[in-house]
Amino acid sequence: METVTQLLHSIQDVGSDVVRGGYSRPVYSTAELDLRSWFIDQARQRGLDVETDRNGIIWAWWGKPQDGALVTGSHLDSVPGGGAFDGPLGVASALAAVDLLKARGTVPGRSLAITVFPEEEGSRFGVACLGSRLLTGAIEVNKALNLHDADGNTFADVARSNGLDPRHVGPDQEALARIGEFVELHVEQGKGLGADGPAIAVGSSILGHGRWKLSIHGQGNHAGTTLMADRADPMVAAAQIIVAVRDAAAREPDARATVGRLIPVPGGTNVIASRVDLWLDARHPDDAVTARLIEAIYAAAREIATREGCSVSLTEESYSDTVHFDPDLSRRISGILPGAPVLATGAGHDAGVLAGYVPSAMLFVRNPSGISHSPEEYVADEDADAGAVALADVLEGLL
Ligand code: GLV
Ligand code: MN
Ligand code: MN
Repeated sequence: METVTQLLHSIQDVGSDVVRGGYSRPVYSTAELDLRSWFIDQARQRGLDVETDRNGIIWAWWGKPQDGALVTGSHLDSVPGGGAFDGPLGVASALAAVDLLKARGTVPGRSLAITVFPEEEGSRFGVACLGSRLLTGAIEVNKALNLHDADGNTFADVARSNGLDPRHVGPDQEALARIGEFVELHVEQGKGLGADGPAIAVGSSILGHGRWKLSIHGQGNHAGTTLMADRADPMVAAAQIIVAVRDAAAREPDARATVGRLIPVPGGTNVIASRVDLWLDARHPDDAVTARLIEAIYAAAREIATREGCSVSLTEESYSDTVHFDPDLSRRISGILPGAPVLATGAGHDAGVLAGYVPSAMLFVRNPSGISHSPEEYVADEDADAGAVALADVLEGLL
């Protein structure tokens, strides 16, 4: 029997990033594969039967695989330079909850599975929650297979070299039917839980969110010989577009828009770039407002690009509507955890994708830093352990 804190301690060196700080655990990297092996070992030590499905989702079964099972879990991949808790907290809490249930002598009325979803962050192939999107059919298979990472490897190739058959990647009704309800425990990623109140909240909704790529084309040239007046520099356009993104989002109450990644091509100190790709993450509870926001950003980007002698194109890479978790399941969970506040989140989760297909719910564990997707993300040991107890109570109540 191990506590969440002990479990997280045992993976604290896996994928630590000395350059960025925090952890970089992209899907199917050595670090993420090490974590998958760690999870499989931990599950087997608890007598759970482990299988990996055709989309690379790991299932660890307490009881025989069956339709309508209770399923909990999260992910082990991370953003570049992420924190220790986003994903692993939910996986470690699920393992600790099984320990607690066994120690309590719980005899499950039906099977329970712990799942680990690949590429939740989309930090390698660009589309978040790729595993749950594939499982449910929320992404078109060919689109997924043709996604590529920063080194040009396609998802099909990477899937193949990790033991998956690209011909069998995609919607899996049999696996989906096994999920009676899905409950994901996750670190809270904002300032939703104060220092003095309860450490655990029940999730209510996930903000609609999407990703777009803006490509700005200019004229690659020599930094020393090209007069300032003669330039068509897409970096100069990109700088102004980023400010326009911030300003457009600031004009829409409740909107969030971020440019967190930008690649100049070819990317040399003494080279005026010929192209800049930048990725936009935008979120708002109302899909119509998001559409209006993206239109405003694209219009501003076109105007800026033209002024700088450049051109710009915009492509939507993924979009997820606002999700409201299953009211009945959430009500039952609130009944099991009286006093736990109900909290909306601005972060995306596999539970949000699954919610379109099966009753899904979330638990959040307090993060006093209020910071996430950063090494400063934090959960106190006692809150992590309280989270595992809350998850065990919820699973016991639902089993
Ligand atoms: C995932 O953490 C996201 O909200 O982007
Ligand atoms: Mn995340
Ligand atoms: Mn996460």
